[in-house]
Amino acid sequence: MEKLIAHLKSQGFIFQGSEIYGGLANSWDYGPLGVEVKNKLKQAWWNHFVRKNPYNIGLDSSIILNSSVWKASGHIDGFNDPLIDCKKCNSRWRADKLIEEFNSEINAGVMTENQMEEFIKEQNIKCPKCQACDFTQIRKFALMFKTNQGVLEDESSSVYLRPETAQGIFINFKNAQRSLRKKLPFGIGQIGKSFRNEITPGNFIFRTREFEQMELEFFFNPSDEKDWFSYWLNEVETFLQDKIQINKENYRVRSHEKDELAHYSTATSDIEFKFPFGWGELWGVAHRGNFDLNAHQEASKQDLTYLDPTTNQKVLPHVIEPSVGVERMMLAILWQAYHEEDLGEGNSRIVMKLPYNLAPYQIAVMPLQKQQNDQALALYSNLLNNFDVTYDETGNVGKRYRRQDAIGTPFVITVDFDTPETNSVTVRERDSMEQVRINLDELETYLKAKF
Ligand code: GAP
Repeated sequence: MEKLIAHLKSQGFIFQGSEIYGGLANSWDYGPLGVEVKNKLKQAWWNHFVRKNPYNIGLDSSIILNSSVWKASGHIDGFNDPLIDCKKCNSRWRADKLIEEFNSEINAGVMTENQMEEFIKEQNIKCPKCQACDFTQIRKFALMFKTNQGVLEDESSSVYLRPETAQGIFINFKNAQRSLRKKLPFGIGQIGKSFRNEITPGNFIFRTREFEQMELEFFFNPSDEKDWFSYWLNEVETFLQDKIQINKENYRVRSHEKDELAHYSTATSDIEFKFPFGWGELWGVAHRGNFDLNAHQEASKQDLTYLDPTTNQKVLPHVIEPSVGVERMMLAILWQAYHEEDLGEGNSRIVMKLPYNLAPYQIAVMPLQKQQNDQALALYSNLLNNFDVTYDETGNVGKRYRRQDAIGTPFVITVDFDTPETNSVTVRERDSMEQVRINLDELETYLKAKF
């Protein structure tokens, strides 16, 4: 992980947040190449789950919502973590995580606060910082960031930064359904920032306090006999395998036990990824029943039911929710892509084997020597019309290949001595390092087929 972080920094993918001021704990900025990967990932998700799905539509709701939303959704009263302090060094920990790190077989999410306190005492679990075994009692720590809207700073002006994008979808269910005259079943997708004041953020971009989510709320009539939960779980796997090429051996599907389910859910499956620090949740697929629409209907006193045109009956739709973090997915993709390869004879390379559709640049164009600069530049401008291209003329060819490998550019095109006469260039593929000679008239067709 250390090597990956250093590599991503040096190549312009991810920088420490607020670095020139000594940084801000667990905040990360996406550099010129990181933002390209991130945007392409979001585009791939949007295409698969919104644009190209026959049922779904999209939305972009506010980050700050009326606080009644969070009261109704249960977040104000129930969205908290079990906080425990070390009495010796005053460091703060999530009690459930202390237990799970002590014994990875245990799921502390199903334990009560008392059970957690007793377990920590009985097992003499040590403070990870100072190794003492002396903790305070567990307290509930609210995870939502609270701030004030407007000029007054009293309770009436209190607002929260959203901890999930989902609620913005539920409160717009009626607007979206009516305006587009949607019939059940249909889903609403959204990509956007969420904020949680996590007690123990960490593991690079795996858990941060500011992050982005890609969430789909799929609404269906509870009398519908189709197994929509399996349908969406399957779509999630299709996306992982076919759209962003996550290897099957790097992830697994884990169903939640009954006592582990969130208060709103009747079934949940997590897709877990084999991160460098162990298996961790990547993507949750939850059956939320009609919990949210019902809560908002009661609290807002608005009719949020759907009138079934065939039976003429009002129904409160049920919901399946696949929800994933952009940065967590980025970590999975970048980690899987990072390779150090020994090329023999004292040569080695770092290569980012990113899926072609997520690489910051699809193609790099370079002249072999100065004499070919003009022709290479002309080819570069031409290709820019149809591809994401970069141009590099500094350093020897070997170094330039290594540079493109290091940022994951799938194809490097070299314009050389023979180009003017033969009207052809060399195209080198990143992973195999194989080179082929392609006629310039066929180049675009050749490249298009590759992507
Ligand atoms: N609307 C349901 C929901 O928010 P969640 O399991 O709390 O469910 C969904 O979050 C996904 O969001 C997670 O699977 C993870 O990918 C991402 N996520 C949650 N908290 C995160 C954090 N602090 N940092 C980065 N990603 C996070």
